[in-house]
Amino acid sequence: MSKTKVIAFANNKGGSGKTTTCSNVGCAMAMEGKKVLMIDGDMQLNLTISYFDEEQALEFAQSGKNIHTAIKEEKDLNDFIVSTGIDGLDLIPSSSLMSGIEFDLFAKWQREFVLKKCLERVRAKGYYDYILIDSPPTLGGWVMNVMCASDYLVIPVEASPWGLFGLANMFEFCNQAKNMAPKLEILGIAITKADERKKYFKQTMDILKETDGTRLFENYIRVDSAVEWAQDNSKPVVAYKKTSRSAVEYINLTKEIMEYANR
Ligand SMILES: Nc1ncnc2c1ncn2[C@@H]1O[C@H](COP(=O)(O)OP(=O)(O)O)[C@@H](O)[C@H]1O
Ligand SMILES: [Mg+2]
Repeated sequence: MSKTKVIAFANNKGGSGKTTTCSNVGCAMAMEGKKVLMIDGDMQLNLTISYFDEEQALEFAQSGKNIHTAIKEEKDLNDFIVSTGIDGLDLIPSSSLMSGIEFDLFAKWQREFVLKKCLERVRAKGYYDYILIDSPPTLGGWVMNVMCASDYLVIPVEASPWGLFGLANMFEFCNQAKNMAPKLEILGIAITKADERKKYFKQTMDILKETDGTRLFENYIRVDSAVEWAQDNSKPVVAYKKTSRSAVEYINLTKEIMEYANR
């Protein structure tokens, strides 16, 4: 069996920190010496532009070196990998054409398993320790593909009243995914953009701690402007400013994720 572990980052709520978490966890894993492939599954290209400037992102879209082309044409994903320039950290870029992915998938045979099949050879090679998949803020056929291709799911949740709203739908969707992918395991909920000065933060943590059977990661990520400065420089904060508060928090969250994914 392949040693590669596939971890999806998903939550139907936009702005919950999926991309920031995927990008930083991937980079922190690579900084630990792991081989990591990240897949940008969102038409907004945020994971792609976390590492590349807009011009390069456009080039990936035009040349067909992106997840949309691979899925639409059902190609081996090995041929769509680019290096981020950080040791051990690779990426499959996205394209704005991902906006039409639901339509592209619709008529395909076993349409929930297209991504899983395209990933098969990458997994079989066993080169990567981790494959991390960033998802769009939707719960449709494409996110179902992401879940069916994954071993684990991390749910980033923003510590705000609206961050919790809709989480029940997310869990319901995960249950549907488990019917199709019985080995899929929810690894845990990762709190992002926490502001400990707010009373609401504590209430969020208390509510989530009581979510039956779902782990709440101990290491949460606080609001930190370094995250945005890093993004402005096309870098994850763990690479841009390793000593910043959020970088340290992301490095600790990454250790926790790796520990549970290897149990
Ligand atoms: N810890 C943080 N501190 C400050 N801003 C953050 C933090 N995490 C994420 N953000 C910002 O919040 C916004 C949403 O985050 P993002 O990762 O894009 O969420 P999603 O992928 O779920 O839509 C982005 O503009 C990002 O820069
Ligand atoms: Mg995103």
